Amino acid sequence: MNIMKAENYVEMSVQASEYISKKIESKPNITLGLATGSTPKGLYAKLIKNYLRHEISFQQVSTINLDEHIGINQTDPNSYHFYMKTQLFDHIDIRETQTHLPYGNAQDLAKECDRYDLLINRLGGIDLQILGIGHNGHIGFNEPGSSVNSRTQVVRLTESTRKANAKFFKSFDDVPTHAITMGIASILESKEILLLASGRLKAKVIERLVKGKLTKRFRHQP
Ligand code: PGA
Repeated sequence: MNIMKAENYVEMSVQASEYISKKIESKPNITLGLATGSTPKGLYAKLIKNYLRHEISFQQVSTINLDEHIGINQTDPNSYHFYMKTQLFDHIDIRETQTHLPYGNAQDLAKECDRYDLLINRLGGIDLQILGIGHNGHIGFNEPGSSVNSRTQVVRLTESTRKANAKFFKSFDDVPTHAITMGIASILESKEILLLASGRLKAKVIERLVKGKLTKRFRHQP
């Protein structure tokens, strides 16, 4: 594990965008795993800048996102489909058919989970996964205690996650109770992971991630 420190949020976003831009340069048809939330917004803005300066092209890049809320339409400003379009996809030369997110409004969510896992396989796995981390340590929407063997699944969001996300919604009651998320196993199989965290509130969870002991639950997984 390499730890890259940055002075502040902007510096973190610049470092991450330079790292990813170099990866795209060396493998133009890279598969990037993407995250949403507040943390990667600055990174996406910097990637757009690099694209506009003709430093990188996303023509051959494929993307696969971590998660989506259940029961929200793709056009809803609180959907991660909408987030990705407005924060990144609409501003770069990526092909829409090469961008992938799970559908939280699929009629058959079990089938949608299977489709997503097959898609990850079809893409040959994830070359570089970008991650944020929740205050409670969740990755994607895999809340603490999720199995390390999990694949794409429907999960119930904890109250703390819903509270953290309430800032994006009109009220706490509008925050969805469930989400569809890529599983821990698929995330861990990524060839490389770049986890971003910024701010005092994230310091504790990063300390536990880096220095904490493996929990019993994790050790006992086959
Ligand atoms: P944030 O969310 O970037 O909005 O803090 C991170 C996460 O919940 O994974």
